[in-house]
Amino acid sequence: MRLHSKLATLSPVVHGARDYGELARLGLPPTEVIDLSANSNPYGPHPAVLAAVQAALDPATLAHYPDRDCLALRAAIAAADQTTMDRILPGNGATELIHLLALALVEPGSRHLIAAPTFGQYGHAIRLLGGEVIETRPASPESRFDAEAIAAAVRRWQPDGIWLCNPNNPTGQQWSAAELAHLRAADPAQQAWWVLDESYRYFAAAPTPLAGWAEGDNLIILRSLTKDQALAGLRLGYVLAAPTVITALRAAQPTWSVNALAQVAGVAALQEPVLAWRQQSLDCLRRHAVGLWARLTELRYAVLPTDTTYTLVAVENAAAFRQQLLSQGVQVRDCASFGLPQHVRIAARRPEENERLVAAIVTLRHS
Ligand SMILES: Cc1ncc(COP(=O)(O)O)c(C=O)c1O
Repeated sequence: MRLHSKLATLSPVVHGARDYGELARLGLPPTEVIDLSANSNPYGPHPAVLAAVQAALDPATLAHYPDRDCLALRAAIAAADQTTMDRILPGNGATELIHLLALALVEPGSRHLIAAPTFGQYGHAIRLLGGEVIETRPASPESRFDAEAIAAAVRRWQPDGIWLCNPNNPTGQQWSAAELAHLRAADPAQQAWWVLDESYRYFAAAPTPLAGWAEGDNLIILRSLTKDQALAGLRLGYVLAAPTVITALRAAQPTWSVNALAQVAGVAALQEPVLAWRQQSLDCLRRHAVGLWARLTELRYAVLPTDTTYTLVAVENAAAFRQQLLSQGVQVRDCASFGLPQHVRIAARRPEENERLVAAIVTLRHS
């Protein structure tokens, strides 16, 4: 009797956000830690979403299985994204859907291209299924992604899958429509699967338009409501893809993967007034982010350019820097797991929280 051989070679993906065990060891109550390590909308969830979840907290909802077809939720997504319900598959956060996509797209030995540094879950899910991960990486963390270098890698390796994150985590860089068109042109017969993770779509001032380059049944888009709607604890994401892809993914997805409260929250979150709030609150966050980058620059940190409300900041030793700030109740993301041991990722929050970060850094420098 033995475990699956793949499991012996894999460790869990490293993430930002609260590590409850670590906080307990440090004697820090989680609610007292300012978390700038997760990219999230600090103004959410919207009161209408909270009210919808509270209204659903009744025995009739909790005691019954949720709608396994997510009908109301898919209708709300279809209306918000101007598509049809047969092109939508909700899941228990984008993370579940990344693994589901890997299950659908990764044959043992198949090749998958990833533009590093990027979200660690893609490589993990691909390797788990026996796929080969090919990484492209800019010459230095300061360099912007180079669309031509990635297009050249597509032409050279002819991968079975290309996994892109737009805007990217951890860099905050957003691909333009022209860059994405250039990338897709590197696969003229459109033989590869193109997975575009848009979990941070609305964190950019002007999300990349989808027309033109986004056509074709080999393009799969992934979205999440856990960040822009601040529903990370509830878990909700969805795939947008051709109906044939959705049908295949559904067949492999665990039934009832989206719980009743997440479905209710998602419907409320996708109504027009809440969508307008999402835009306004993230616009406001973007202004505060610019203010924070200026403060960090004054403190002589190299703040890398970003199109979003989170960015990479150069420090000498990311692990030590994170640890020293955490001991003061402020958390940033050590980017060593992205291959960047001298960078932290900082996600701007409300001004008073950003000021706590600045104060913690000043204290650190005087200690
Ligand atoms: C690029 C990217 N995609 C997906 C996810 C996972 O999102 P979810 O909370 O919906 O599982 C994350 C979380 O950090 C992420 O950074």
